[in-house]
Amino acid sequence: MKLRKMWFNINGADRMVVCCPEKDTLSDVLRRIGLTSVKVGCGTGVCGSCAVILDKKVVRSCNKKIKAVEEYSKIITLEGIGTPSNLHPLQVAWMNCGAVQCGFCTPGFIVSAYALLLENNNPTREEVRDWFQKTRNVCRCTGYKQLVDAVMAAAKVVRGEAKIEDITFQLPEDNECYGKPVVRPTALSKVTGLADYGEDMAVKMPGETLHVAVAQPRIAHHANILKIDTSEAEKMPGVVKVITYKDILANGGTNQMAEANLHERSTVTLPSRKILCDERIFRYGDVVALAIANTPDQARAAAAKVKVEIEQLPEYLNYLDAVLPDSIRVHDDTPNIFCLQPVLKGVALENADNVIKVLDESAHSVEGSFYSAREPHLSIEGCTVQAYFDEEDCLTFQCKSQGQYTSISRIGNSLGIPRKKLRIVNNFNGASFGWSTNAGDLVLAGAAAVAVNGPVALHMSYEEHQHYSGKRCPSYSNGRAACDENGKITAVEFDIGLDHGAYSWGGDHVIEKPVRFTFFPYHVPHVAGLGRVANTNHTFGTAYRSYGSPQAYTLSEALVDMLAEKAGIDPFDFRWLNIARLGETNINSFPFKDYPMEDMMNKMRPFYEKAVAEAKAADTPEKRRGVGLAWGGFNVTEGGTDQATIILELAPDNMILKYDTWQDLGQGGDIGSLMVTLEALKPMGVTSDRIRLIQNDTKVCPDSGMSAASRSHYMNGHATKIAAERLMNAMRKPDGTYRTYEEMVAEGIETKYEAQYLCTATPVIRIDPNTGVGDPTPAYTYVLNLAEVEVDTATGKTRVIRFVCIYDVGKIGNIDAVSGQAYGGISHSIGFALSEDYSDVKKHTNIAASGVPYIKDIPDEIILIPCDNPRSDGPFGSSGASEAFQSSGHVAVLNAIYNACGVRIYEMPARPEKVKAGLEILAKGGKIEPPQKYFLGSDLYEELENIKANPVVFRGDDMFTALGGSTDERFY
Ligand code: FES
Ligand code: FES
Repeated sequence: MKLRKMWFNINGADRMVVCCPEKDTLSDVLRRIGLTSVKVGCGTGVCGSCAVILDKKVVRSCNKKIKAVEEYSKIITLEGIGTPSNLHPLQVAWMNCGAVQCGFCTPGFIVSAYALLLENNNPTREEVRDWFQKTRNVCRCTGYKQLVDAVMAAAKVVRGEAKIEDITFQLPEDNECYGKPVVRPTALSKVTGLADYGEDMAVKMPGETLHVAVAQPRIAHHANILKIDTSEAEKMPGVVKVITYKDILANGGTNQMAEANLHERSTVTLPSRKILCDERIFRYGDVVALAIANTPDQARAAAAKVKVEIEQLPEYLNYLDAVLPDSIRVHDDTPNIFCLQPVLKGVALENADNVIKVLDESAHSVEGSFYSAREPHLSIEGCTVQAYFDEEDCLTFQCKSQGQYTSISRIGNSLGIPRKKLRIVNNFNGASFGWSTNAGDLVLAGAAAVAVNGPVALHMSYEEHQHYSGKRCPSYSNGRAACDENGKITAVEFDIGLDHGAYSWGGDHVIEKPVRFTFFPYHVPHVAGLGRVANTNHTFGTAYRSYGSPQAYTLSEALVDMLAEKAGIDPFDFRWLNIARLGETNINSFPFKDYPMEDMMNKMRPFYEKAVAEAKAADTPEKRRGVGLAWGGFNVTEGGTDQATIILELAPDNMILKYDTWQDLGQGGDIGSLMVTLEALKPMGVTSDRIRLIQNDTKVCPDSGMSAASRSHYMNGHATKIAAERLMNAMRKPDGTYRTYEEMVAEGIETKYEAQYLCTATPVIRIDPNTGVGDPTPAYTYVLNLAEVEVDTATGKTRVIRFVCIYDVGKIGNIDAVSGQAYGGISHSIGFALSEDYSDVKKHTNIAASGVPYIKDIPDEIILIPCDNPRSDGPFGSSGASEAFQSSGHVAVLNAIYNACGVRIYEMPARPEKVKAGLEILAKGGKIEPPQKYFLGSDLYEELENIKANPVVFRGDDMFTALGGSTDERFY
């Protein structure tokens, strides 16, 4: 290798670097000299996270070859813009405008904004948006609006029209912080580039650390493995070891990810996922071996030399193919459809096909079949893990985990390390939205660390991560809905098939969502519905914000619109007629917990009327305008088995230490934990500077549960209240004042208090596997979405020009954090409706190719209206937040497209070519028909009859104890 010495002026100082001109990129060199604010996400020039200023121009340093950079160039990175003790207004504004979530994109955005303000310190909002579009900066968390707010606020300071204090949130003197935009504790490290994310940690690990690359053959979706040949890989330079499943077995591991079977109708009997493939490849992204070497490049080069011989098997890349009668099994122990969940209500409880009569005899009915896409999460940071043995010989994972204790259960015995010797620590991380719930990347790194008995860093390219990680299950659904002559819904039937991909874990859970959220929150008297979940050979289904409910709304909110039209009623009025009123029940035959629906529609009405009037006025043959609505919502908590444990401790310096595993994936695990702790300790007058969060290290933090299911605020808040009461009771003196640490110790009083909150404190009832009757959540969240779109009839391209979301998530804990989830969820929904997909593994290899929205794809006008209704049983009146915001916004967009131009999109995403094809059919006087009714494995009513004839024993919450008691033992 030939090296070159070069000089650059970096952040104002002349610096000498040594680089490899043939290989190094500018980002390689900058990161190597310690400027790790330069984040590499995609590594292929499409995300902007690596943006730096090179001779006054913003460049993406990951694809700028160092040999193409002139010596003595001037380079500016975030480190040169501001430091913690001398922040630039942009950094202050980012912290105070809610512009920091995961923060992975933050350095690239601030660098880009800095260049903009050098050129134009008085930009309009649209000029800011044009600028970020030009510099190709992507933020997957925020939905962009708060980023533009931040630039506008900072620009005022730069122009001298405002002071830093004017754009800084001041903590209230009365300490009434709850609900206010208190700045996240981690924001400062993120805006200054000092937060070390996964690959930054890898750079900064001790020199002995080895590097791991995956051998991901990508030669088949389904095949028998005849031979794995590592001989050539082992001879590559710098290679220490190349391991296969045999090494994991030899080290005492089972090579099998642990799996739970938590549904009475699940036919899965064996864990479906291996760490490294042994006999079979089940999907394109499967990994067969790991190359461990002295450098990342050496590991990668060696992994590429692993050879695999296969015997091709039939490949089922979608649900419909996998459930055909002659399809072979994906997993030998179970039919491809591995779980069913019916839902019956009204006359259907006696006999499901009674519903047919109601549907047939109603004044109006509509039917349709719908496909919702395999939505990729598209976090900008992918898989990156470090694994090592700590001083107590615990196998420690520095990683991104959305459920640290669940991950320990998932790892189970797979690596041959006892569970009590597994430790998970979260790095700062570049978001997840659900994919990091399954511990797949952790076990790869763990297997390598065990094999070499030392520290390792696992690296994946974005493409490898994209193929390796799970995605949202696509759905195929058939449905019918009917109403009377006044527009009141009389009955519905639906049949929803979820494609869970190659592995089963989670399928028995996601199946419950369609039978809970289809037609939420309407009152439907009679329901015959079925959820089915099947294995295929595509990538596996996994958690994603609003897990399983977008598939339900894809069907129901389209049918509601279609039925309104058939009945000749305005879609807003039709919804008003049919929302549930106090005492009316959901499709699971239980009351909705709250009834904010009328209030929310009243709040939406003026926005709707304005949007309809404006759309009408702006509509032209070239640019059609339309307005669409969609109700949505989600559950709060994981139901009857949910628990959260936290610890509060009075420390020697009289600080209050809060220990928990409120995993922060950018959604705000840090600020959420701070807000509930502040509120719980308010009687004692504790201010935020007296609270120290100790989070997300399983060695010292108790199990607070997953950051999922909109549960964290509700569960952690309750647990924090209990612990705070215990601590304050212990500290309270007879005169009502509070003891200091010294006083507590002198009196021999305990200073550390653990508390656990169990979801069963508010009774919940699991969904009955025979009928779908049940009440499995202590709280709901509600959203009502409005999208206004413009369709270009020449190209078929849809632009969302305004989005309004009325929401009720109970009392708000931190408005910036909740708004961040709302903006972010809405931006994902828009992407889901129009562009996002991971169906073509050859094409959907990075965030751009998979349809991630750039800033100009998301409207700047997103209006959020909170209801802020306190919940009687929620901690401090709060409920949960997040998931509802991504439940149904996509259908509001699809309904708006129909309203604009008459093209109903039955199969997502609504890419321009699809809309254009619909316009052409209409132009020729044709009619756009729904897809032919999907065959989902059997006839709906025959299957419901079969379920009725073969009931399973409903074990309620005993299901979990019957399976073994503790969380760990539930996994086989
Ligand atoms: Fe460089 Fe994405 S554009 S890392
Ligand atoms: Fe922008 Fe997470 S905050 S990607």
